[in-house]
Amino acid sequence: MKTVIYYYSTTGNSLYVARELQKAIPEAEIQSISEVLREDRLVVNAECVGFVFPMHYFGLPIQVEEFLQKVTILESPYTFAIATCGVPYWGRPFMDAEKILKEKNCSLHASWYVRLVSNYIPLRDIAADWRINIRAWLAKGKLQRIAKAINNREAHSTWQLFKNFCGRYHDKWLAGQQEIDNKFLCDKEKCTACGLCERICPRDNIKRPEGSPVWEHRCVECLGCLHICPAKAIEYGEITKGRKRYRHKAIAPADLLRKG
Ligand SMILES: Cc1cc2nc3c(=O)[nH]c(=O)nc-3n(C[C@H](O)[C@H](O)[C@H](O)COP(=O)(O)O)c2cc1C
Ligand code: SF4
Ligand code: SF4
Repeated sequence: MKTVIYYYSTTGNSLYVARELQKAIPEAEIQSISEVLREDRLVVNAECVGFVFPMHYFGLPIQVEEFLQKVTILESPYTFAIATCGVPYWGRPFMDAEKILKEKNCSLHASWYVRLVSNYIPLRDIAADWRINIRAWLAKGKLQRIAKAINNREAHSTWQLFKNFCGRYHDKWLAGQQEIDNKFLCDKEKCTACGLCERICPRDNIKRPEGSPVWEHRCVECLGCLHICPAKAIEYGEITKGRKRYRHKAIAPADLLRKG
């Protein structure tokens, strides 16, 4: 009956979803994709396997794509994928996941979007609290229905609108990855050298030779460093100045840091 839920999360939305499902699914364990990606060999043998991740530029986060490429899935489990997001239905995350799984002779049996809060503050500020609370309430109800469907091994597909347009946008984003972290700035006056930015980075892309962060151009634009900084010392160019930072209220900063 074992279920393994792999999650990827930098501001806690996807970790919250994984934890809620773990409570509602018998014998479920959750594992961090950033952590397991460090292992040389990645093999999963379970009756049910789930993937929970944020939508990044209408598609899969880079690390989730790498994880799906790397993992070996034994037997033929029931598989499901959940994308947390600010704006559901636009994009192709499940199409891309299914394509990778098919190359491994695996199917994707069910997929859902769970709308929470967009943490992409270079585009716009974090939603108002009342909006966050309404979405959290709606998500809680949806997660109960999703857990029931998973426990019954139901098939479920969801809309993925404007796949070609969104796909082109996603591919353009992927092509520009190397330069992304040139936009990060650290205000040394504000930085307290706490090290959280370094410890959250899933790519080991931050070093702190003199206390404050220096980015090493292996960024996947998860925005973990930007949101976790307690001093708000990190900005993404000028555009994030004055904008709020975000973390799901049920998730502590320590839950998002790299182990070890
Ligand atoms: C680089 C990046 C791109 C994003 N692109 C989208 C998007 O295309 N559509 C969307 O609804 N949300 C987008 N978001 C917002 C996240 O998907 C959303 O906040 C998610 O729930 C965060 O999950 P987490 O807290 O588990 O990291 C993006 C966030 C980042 C960092
Ligand atoms: S998280 Fe912020 S305060 Fe802490 S080291 Fe990084 S930039 Fe400095
Ligand atoms: S440098 Fe920041 S945005 Fe880039 S991968 Fe690391 S934590 Fe994420």
